[in-house]
Amino acid sequence: MNVTPWEVEGVIDYSKLIEEFGMQPFSEVLPEIENPHILMRRGAIFGHRDYWRIIEAMKRGEPWAVMSGFMPSGLPHFGHKMTMDEIVWHQRAGGTAFVAIADMEAHSVRGLSWEKTKELGLLYIKSIIALGLKENTVIYFQSKSSHVKDLAFELSAEVNFSELRAIYGFNSDTSLAKMFVTAVQAADILHPQLSDYGGPKPVVVPVGADQDPHMRLTRDLAARVSIFSFEPIEGGLRVRSRKGADYLESIKKLDFEKKVYEEHIDIFGDAEEIERAVREIEVKIGGFAFIPPSSTYHRFTTGLTGGKMSSSKPESYISLLDSPEEGAKKVMRAFTGGRATAEEQRRLGGEPEKCVVFELYSYHLIEKDEELRQIEADCREGRMLCGKCKKMAAELIRNFLKEHQEKMEAVDLSKYTIIG
Ligand code: TRP
Ligand code: SF4
Repeated sequence: MNVTPWEVEGVIDYSKLIEEFGMQPFSEVLPEIENPHILMRRGAIFGHRDYWRIIEAMKRGEPWAVMSGFMPSGLPHFGHKMTMDEIVWHQRAGGTAFVAIADMEAHSVRGLSWEKTKELGLLYIKSIIALGLKENTVIYFQSKSSHVKDLAFELSAEVNFSELRAIYGFNSDTSLAKMFVTAVQAADILHPQLSDYGGPKPVVVPVGADQDPHMRLTRDLAARVSIFSFEPIEGGLRVRSRKGADYLESIKKLDFEKKVYEEHIDIFGDAEEIERAVREIEVKIGGFAFIPPSSTYHRFTTGLTGGKMSSSKPESYISLLDSPEEGAKKVMRAFTGGRATAEEQRRLGGEPEKCVVFELYSYHLIEKDEELRQIEADCREGRMLCGKCKKMAAELIRNFLKEHQEKMEAVDLSKYTIIG
């Protein structure tokens, strides 16, 4: 398998991906989450980094944010819907939401004109609003946010070519703009922590697993541009300054037991309290004090005709803007986990885990667990054949698209603040 932000190939083994990328399995935090979303419960979200920060902030009622972005290089489809649903869920759970339209990425990596990225970007914005995004959200086009562009420039001072080559496989033919958009994405993710947005806070970034290289770079940069760094020690934290030992002066007055050395200070007590106190000081003296962002990773959406869903193959996906009829037709043509003949299927049962239609039910169309279990059992035991099953899915898709598009029509963008 080959998984990069701009290319996904081969059969994806998710446990292997967790291991290779160094993510954590989502099942580990799931029991801690109140009213988890179906994408969480049904294993579509399979991995995370530092999601405990979000759980803690939710429990304590402290500020936190959710942020993700969409590259407007084609029409929004059911793959994007996953991210949209995740943002909306987190916003309902108390996070401040930030939504980026990655027009700089679409322009520089995919070659779309600014007019086109604007037009497509608005469709993503209307779609996520139709899916429930509330008004108090920061929605922006990358190219129009000076917060993001300024921060991207600042971050890019900490990145060199060898690092980009190692993370993304860039080479001497890679354009400067394509390299720069990696810093722009890092800035997307970190800017909710700028003082203009209330300062350092946990931020969760729901994304497809292919975006993890960006998360790794961003988490590294969060530390690199901040003044103080932390290292666990017996009974507390060792605090260093990345910008010269002079800065250590300012934390000497902290009210904790400590041992002062020339190059670092060991502080004893509750690690989280110490971190919080040191970050507060850093913000006061003008540092970023970024908390490394958390993330969740969802599975790739299977294309309707097998393989991966790709915006360059309209037959492979159902767009949120396909007409209800077109959507229903695509479902009827989709690959299933059915057997070669009806007789065989009655005898052996179908294979829902291999079925694109079942994936649609599970991630998008069926909310009630009981109902989904029934379909799964009927399929596995050969009681239901694919023709009938697809007809049912087609009907659900038809209704969903009709309703979604009506909601999109009704969206009043003037109620939202859009930087764009
Ligand atoms: N690169 C992402 C994509 O191709 C879009 C994106 C831009 C994004 N900025 C982001 C995703 C910030 C998450 C967070 O879909
Ligand atoms: Fe998929 Fe339904 Fe066929 Fe089972 S019966 S393989 S769920 S289409």
